[in-house]
Amino acid sequence: MGFPARRLRRLRRTPALRRLVAEARLTVDDLVAPLFVREDISAPAPVVSLPGVVQHTRESLRKEVRELAGLGIPGVILFGIPARKDAEGSEAWNPDGIVQVALRDLRDEVGDSLVLMADLCLDEYTDHGHCGVLLPDGAVDNDATIELYARTALAQGEAGADVVAPSGMMDGQVAAIRAALDGDGRTDVAILAYAAKYASALYGPFRDAVDVTIAGGGDRKGYQQDWHNGREALAEIAFDVEEGADMVMVKPALAYLDVIAAARARFDVPLAAYHVSGEYAMVKAAAERGWIDGDAVALEQLTAIKRAGADVILTYFARELAERGL
Ligand code: PBG
Repeated sequence: MGFPARRLRRLRRTPALRRLVAEARLTVDDLVAPLFVREDISAPAPVVSLPGVVQHTRESLRKEVRELAGLGIPGVILFGIPARKDAEGSEAWNPDGIVQVALRDLRDEVGDSLVLMADLCLDEYTDHGHCGVLLPDGAVDNDATIELYARTALAQGEAGADVVAPSGMMDGQVAAIRAALDGDGRTDVAILAYAAKYASALYGPFRDAVDVTIAGGGDRKGYQQDWHNGREALAEIAFDVEEGADMVMVKPALAYLDVIAAARARFDVPLAAYHVSGEYAMVKAAAERGWIDGDAVALEQLTAIKRAGADVILTYFARELAERGL
């Protein structure tokens, strides 16, 4: 046999050889756990379409985050479900709104041992379910919305967020938030921009978790990205970096590994990827039927996201992976 007979298989022969030459490895240090906290409940409420995920009470959230810190998970990102929604989403910037009180609880609970991130958007807080305020024709008003994002950033910063994470895909949102934070003396609060966020069909279980239905059977295609496009993601990220984003995100993850790889090659800020609710639910559902090995698939998928270039991975598998020991 000619060259290169069996050459590529030599280093795959034993587990130790494979371990030695592995290029990408997922660690607990890469993980951020998305968590939901709800205002009007007295016990944690399971989210049926996200097995293992619950809407937390303030008390159960404290306990969960203390345990996650104990498992070595470096960060959590909070989503709030308010008791009262209105057209503007005003509970988002209420100093006593659910995410703000939860941030104070958690700072008290874990100090600086874990990074506290707050998702910054209005869809959980508006009665129409859009990520901003509406114009008379039903479209989202970009400039009025980013004013409200700036207010929300101040409330979250004041409540102790280390990182605010705008996820509404409004143009200019990062600049508006940075200016508001700096103007308030909160130069230490970092921004993780959901920079390349697609109008994906994979967010369904998340919307169950936050009790969001978009009014009139609408969608977010007027502000989130069209998944036919890849280059456009790089333009989105470039704007956000220029506007002052400290970290940028690609979301969802698995159908967008090309975007993650391209972003990694082009930009030098830390890159996050969000393995979203639909991605998690698909693994759980197939595993429940015995059609796939869920633990193995989860590790394979999340390692692929790391291999593509993500430094930070938001995943509902965070706790499970940490408990398994990576
Ligand atoms: C918006 C937001 C969404 C997700 C994170 N932030 C929903 C949306 O854009 O409709 C989805 C996350 C997931 O599916 O896990 N606040």
